[in-house]
Amino acid sequence: MCGIIGMMGNGSVAGSLLDALRRLEYRGYDSAGMATVSEGSISRRRSEGKIVNLANVLSQEPLAGNIGIGHTRWATHGVPSEKNAHPHSNDRLAIVHNGIIENFAVLKRELQDQGFCFESDTDSEVILHLLTASLTRHGEDIPRVCADVLPRLRGMFALVVMFADREDLLLGARHGSPLALGFDSDGGGYFGSDALSLSGLADRIAYLQDGDWALLSRDESSSRLYGGDNDLKELRTEPLTISSGAFGKGNYRHFMEKEILEQPSVWGDVLAARLDPQVRRPRLPRLPLAFRDIRTLHITACGTAYYAGLVAKYWLEALAKISVDVDFASELRYRSPVLRRDDSLAMCISQSGETMDSLEALRLYKRSGLGTVAVVNVEHSSIARESDVVLATHAGVEIGVASTKAFTTQLLTLACFAITAASERGYMSDSDADTAVSALSCLPGLASQCLTNLLGGDENFLHATQVLSHAKDVLYLGRGVSYPIALEGALKIKEISYIHAEGYAAGEMKHGPIALVDDTVPIVALAPYDRWFSKTLSNLHEVSSRGGDVILFSSKRGIAHAKESGIDLRASIELVDCASVLCLEDTYLAGEIGVDKDLGILDVMHPFIYSLAVQVLAHDVAILKGTDVDQPRNLAKSVTVE
Ligand code: M6R
Repeated sequence: MCGIIGMMGNGSVAGSLLDALRRLEYRGYDSAGMATVSEGSISRRRSEGKIVNLANVLSQEPLAGNIGIGHTRWATHGVPSEKNAHPHSNDRLAIVHNGIIENFAVLKRELQDQGFCFESDTDSEVILHLLTASLTRHGEDIPRVCADVLPRLRGMFALVVMFADREDLLLGARHGSPLALGFDSDGGGYFGSDALSLSGLADRIAYLQDGDWALLSRDESSSRLYGGDNDLKELRTEPLTISSGAFGKGNYRHFMEKEILEQPSVWGDVLAARLDPQVRRPRLPRLPLAFRDIRTLHITACGTAYYAGLVAKYWLEALAKISVDVDFASELRYRSPVLRRDDSLAMCISQSGETMDSLEALRLYKRSGLGTVAVVNVEHSSIARESDVVLATHAGVEIGVASTKAFTTQLLTLACFAITAASERGYMSDSDADTAVSALSCLPGLASQCLTNLLGGDENFLHATQVLSHAKDVLYLGRGVSYPIALEGALKIKEISYIHAEGYAAGEMKHGPIALVDDTVPIVALAPYDRWFSKTLSNLHEVSSRGGDVILFSSKRGIAHAKESGIDLRASIELVDCASVLCLEDTYLAGEIGVDKDLGILDVMHPFIYSLAVQVLAHDVAILKGTDVDQPRNLAKSVTVE
């Protein structure tokens, strides 16, 4: 969390710093600040709240200077306030920090004993004073200062430091939290938390590894990169391909809206990248363990990415007969999981590739000797770099804090993985694999159709959004592959509408949660007309007969069947019938197909369509409630602290 930026150029940097902070705002937005050096002195502007507040401060009190640093904060230590906003500075230096200094209390006492006064309640301020004390001891010998100070910091950090008497130099250091550096061809040098922050600024980029620190000048040849042992390392940059245009919101009200509506075309991009057009099969890199030798797949992830892993569990177990366990990364890393390296593979799913819990869980897998696969959107991220194999999800930049296209592209990548696993292990015939690939190829078109229907003023859907916007508590129910989507739906609405919502396996209601049901708790049922439909319908009758208001998402046939069964529905929203698109109407006849039958291709398709529905539902409820859709309270897009 927190975004940091540092830059030096040939003209004033304040405007570019502000633009870069806007691109970093997804990492935290409770306060922001920047500092520049001009004529040997440091000036600083800070404000509580979003970047727009900082922009207002700057328009009243502009900052001059060709070198500067900036920060957008997600508070860990110390409330969001101007006093706790970064940069922290004195007359010699200014610092911005992303991460947590775990031993800050000990260091703070030591520094206070030496006479340093603290202005903020942050852990970060100890870095400022430690550096100042060390500079006093070692003069201008910055490598010595780094060797002195950096090893004393426990926890995680990405730092950028600016010196009042050096308008030609910035210091950056990384331990845990990400940091990149870059250059343009006009004499500009940059540090930033990610490639996006440097887009439109730098032409070339390099990522610091854990333990690295760097002295940045205006050009690449006089900049220096050091390893954790303070030895000089080769600084190897590569072209920065991400364009600043990827950051735009276009005519959409919110990034989330844009990202939801981009899904048909983004899914097309994923399929174009993932499917081999010659053989019409998914194209996957060689894995550390051949599919036929995998007995267990261990998946770890957080939040929405974890739910993608849960969907993959259903697919891989049924289609490829691979045993799959899925763990919250924050739990896995402090458990003692039993991991067998000979017949197990590990997978880490993450949009950002920087989520600290996921990264540490990946490292745990690696320490146990497991081969690792990263399913990531950001291809240069730490999780990607530290994994044996990377499956890029090709979602493009996702800015909205609530994950949408990143989730469904994770699903699409995992569907390709499951189909390949099933074929290579001999559990899927060639003709079934052909059908599966055709089904995946239909998804972009179905997504367009589904979004058009949902956004086209469907009265039932509008009614459902009204009902939910007045609710204090909502339950999302699903069975089988729809259960993880119910969890995801509940997370989406919690995140951006601040409505308390829980996802449950519909069959679990009678084991406790049904006690919550009354006419104030709407029940959102995700019930495609599939092998689980009749079971789900029975569970819905159980809640309906206890006064629960059921909002049913299903296909035309599912809704008709539900109505025939006499259930009282508050609203029924019709979603596209994947079976009729594939002319597989007879595949699932509710009540006739046993739940013990293997999963079919429709069970691979439904999660995509029902994900779109819960995304649009959450978005539209948030609009009705007037909440901040893209930057919901207390959250940040990239969670790089524990
Ligand atoms: O970048 P990651 O995929 O590792 O992030 C994991 C979660 O923090 C993330 O999915 C979070 O739950 C989203 N805000 C959900 O919309």
